[in-house]
Amino acid sequence: MSKVYDIGVLPGDGIGEEVVREACKVLDAIQSIYGFQTRREALPYGAEHFLKTGETMPDAAFDRIRQMHAVIFGAIGDPRIEVGKLEFAIIAGMRFKLDLYVNLRPIKLYNPAFCPLKDKGPEQIDMLVCRENTEDAYCGIFGHFKKGEPEEVATQTMLYTRRGTERIIRYAFDRARARKRKKLTLVDKANAVRAQDLWTRTFALVAREYPEIETDHAYIDAACMWMVKNPEWFDVAVTTNLFGDIITDLGAMIQGGMGIAASGNIHPGKVSLFEPIHGSAPKYAGKNVACPVAAILAAGMMCDYLGEKQAGSAIENVVIDLVRSKRIKGVNTGDHPTDEIGNMVIAELRALAAKV
Ligand code: IPM
Ligand code: MN
Repeated sequence: MSKVYDIGVLPGDGIGEEVVREACKVLDAIQSIYGFQTRREALPYGAEHFLKTGETMPDAAFDRIRQMHAVIFGAIGDPRIEVGKLEFAIIAGMRFKLDLYVNLRPIKLYNPAFCPLKDKGPEQIDMLVCRENTEDAYCGIFGHFKKGEPEEVATQTMLYTRRGTERIIRYAFDRARARKRKKLTLVDKANAVRAQDLWTRTFALVAREYPEIETDHAYIDAACMWMVKNPEWFDVAVTTNLFGDIITDLGAMIQGGMGIAASGNIHPGKVSLFEPIHGSAPKYAGKNVACPVAAILAAGMMCDYLGEKQAGSAIENVVIDLVRSKRIKGVNTGDHPTDEIGNMVIAELRALAAKV
């Protein structure tokens, strides 16, 4: 009996629909090759749904998702709707309500031609960022006093708990242990954001349990500099929610751009969410120009998470092959029609399967 996974499909806004469609096509192909099945359920949430119904993401949707194995997600963001409203309700909503405390973002250069840095190749750019995903400035604890007046005061709380800090640090150590270099860098700003001293202390405590892991530390400002100057210094990095958000856009650029950067929002052992890290890019929506590589790689990460390891690596390897051989000539908007890339990945997967 082949395994059956329940998968939510949430394309969201803008180009989300097109890139998720390609990811689902690839999923169809990979599951028939590796002999598993997926039961897919469309989740309609996003701007259109909100404009039609006034509903962002209802509790019932979260309850439904809790019954699933994973969700493949596109992007949220629409200029017709107040900034942050849907992002907070849907993206942050899923991260918080499903307690997806790991935001796993691999930064891997597949093709040296994609890298804007001089003299850096795939050897130098291969890191894994473990971004904390349920705390920090994202908690939504903020307020305005005397809003709109000249004396206005605005505050937002950066919140860290011992439990939340420890679990992401522990996850990052486990990830580092599974890699060749076994190095973990803590990225924070404890010299200015003194509350992050909690990170410094927790990291040191957990490190004692992992004597085989080389540990390092970089303040976020310096980490940005090193990622451009000496990206080879990094193997696995663990950081706070906000810094992780920022540093992984920088990371995306050194691996080739937003079109190729994928991520997983994970709670080990529970339903988890996989998405390209790019946004909804509304001006490119419906034009068949968005690059679906990141969404396809996110589907690969999802297979890996589900335990279909061979399927996950097959997707990644096919993408590597296509970009190294320049059949995928670029991962920027308009480099290829969106559906052409999905078709290429599928054809290549089938060709590989025919060989074994
Ligand atoms: C990301 C995005 C989100 C974030 C936005 C859309 C709220 O930038 O997933 O990186 O800041 O986490
Ligand atoms: Mn971001």
